[in-house]
Amino acid sequence: MTPAPDARAGSASPAGAQWKTICRVDDIPRLGARRVSRPHGADIAVFRTADDRVFALLDRCPHKGGPLSQGIVFGDSVACPLHNWTIGLADGCAAAPDVGCVQRFSVRVSAGSVALDLAELAHPRSDADPGSASHAAGGNDAAGASVESPAKTAA
Ligand code: FES
Repeated sequence: MTPAPDARAGSASPAGAQWKTICRVDDIPRLGARRVSRPHGADIAVFRTADDRVFALLDRCPHKGGPLSQGIVFGDSVACPLHNWTIGLADGCAAAPDVGCVQRFSVRVSAGSVALDLAELAHPRSDADPGSASHAAGGNDAAGASVESPAKTAA
């Protein structure tokens, strides 16, 4: 797969997607994350690796819902701050022997700007949330998504 010349996104980009710019790559600390809040659905954690790739996952660990945006990024993974599970940034899945995956979000990086897929932002999907049996109602006003203060960076 060949990335766009100026793209360093870590996730696949769906064809025909509408993108919402959320921040600059430089707004995300290297080996850190920023949290994107949505009107509906759980927050999204947007991570930046040491080599400036950007990934986005639901900000809920597949174990017990820990805030992955506050975890330690290393390589292509993040260590959950609660019980130290290792979650792959590319696939959202826990490293063995742990099991479980968290929802991934498509990322587009263009000219230093980070954008998320508007349709995915609007989707209040919660089936990847641990311990959540509720069925969320639909909504499409993700244009209100906002980036919050940076999470802590890796030591
Ligand atoms: S909640 Fe993430 S490892 Fe337990």
